[in-house]
Amino acid sequence: MRTLTIGLLGCGTVGRGFVELLDAERSRIRARYGLELHVTRILVRDLSRERAGVAAELLTTAPLDVVDGDCDVVVELIGGTHTAGTLVRRAIASGRHVVTANKALLAAAGAELFDDAVRRGVEIGFEASVCGGVPVIGALRRGFSGDSIESIRGVLNGTSNYVLCRMDEGLSLADAVSCAQELGFAEADPTLDLSGEDAAQKLAILAQLAFGEGVRRASVSGIASLRTADLRRARRNGEVIRLVAEARRVPGGVELEVGPRRLPAGDPLATVRDEQNAVIIRGRAIGEVTLSGRGAGSLPTAAAVMSDVIAIGISSRAGARLVA
Ligand SMILES: NC(=O)c1ccc[n+]([C@@H]2O[C@H](COP(=O)([O-])OP(=O)(O)OC[C@H]3O[C@@H](n4cnc5c(N)ncnc54)[C@H](OP(=O)(O)O)[C@@H]3O)[C@@H](O)[C@H]2O)c1
Repeated sequence: MRTLTIGLLGCGTVGRGFVELLDAERSRIRARYGLELHVTRILVRDLSRERAGVAAELLTTAPLDVVDGDCDVVVELIGGTHTAGTLVRRAIASGRHVVTANKALLAAAGAELFDDAVRRGVEIGFEASVCGGVPVIGALRRGFSGDSIESIRGVLNGTSNYVLCRMDEGLSLADAVSCAQELGFAEADPTLDLSGEDAAQKLAILAQLAFGEGVRRASVSGIASLRTADLRRARRNGEVIRLVAEARRVPGGVELEVGPRRLPAGDPLATVRDEQNAVIIRGRAIGEVTLSGRGAGSLPTAAAVMSDVIAIGISSRAGARLVA
């Protein structure tokens, strides 16, 4: 049995999910992977907030208590780029592995952080940063490593998809966004989602993994200017509108495009419902593989984070195999 100590940065939607999931899965992880996962400290902003199921004595508002404390892995779930970036850099510099769900941080500083991690001989896990609980990073990093990827096409932004589904039922864009906000599927400021920028950031991470060099942005647009009548017109033609993110090989490189697309009702992306995500990866030898599921939410995202922590625990254990 190997003990892996974890410093947790953040105990919000995903961080609390991580603590809950660890409680539920601890004995299976022990038995299956020979790993004892132990959270040593948890960084928050507000110590007075009610956090059911979280041991109050682990909470701290002092970041260095966590990143300089007793931990093999720093799990970054605070979001944003400033504090998160500073703490992740410090964790890597001190030889700790990092797991993050923070797509914005990877979009802003991923190349530098991965270089630092390679130099320091530590790993960065980021399965949860794209499509939450849908294991698309693992599929690209491992499953497709033996094949050449030709294209990636997906519905990567659950908020936009939820809004489009409600507009398809007749709601206006504004009402559909309010509805998404009430249910917690959209931020108070949904600009990043509705502009297509969130999907573009996720696509850039996937494309970097799939294609490496030569990836360039062709165009990014979102759903903010769509009207209910546009969806009605599409439906009359047997089509569905989805915000599609696509990366494909073109002469001289790979182009990234994000925008609303009219899809035939039989297209696998046309059937993606509500806040779900889906990704279709086409490999030269493998052909098309479709992954779909819950792209966000507390427990699905926490499960993706946990999968990275387990992979680090296994790979840092001498002689262990990745699959038990
Ligand atoms: N929510 C999802 O479904 C989802 C899905 C995929 C990826 N992600 C990513 O996961 C990360 C976390 O998201 P979330 O939804 O869990 O966020 P959240 O609910 O806002 O939680 C953030 C946590 O970090 C703490 N925190 C934030 N800034 C801090 C600071 N400067 N110092 C100390 N503590 C700080 C907060 O403390 P307090 O609790 O005291 O305020 C809170 O516990 C983000 O990068 C997000 O993009 C989220």
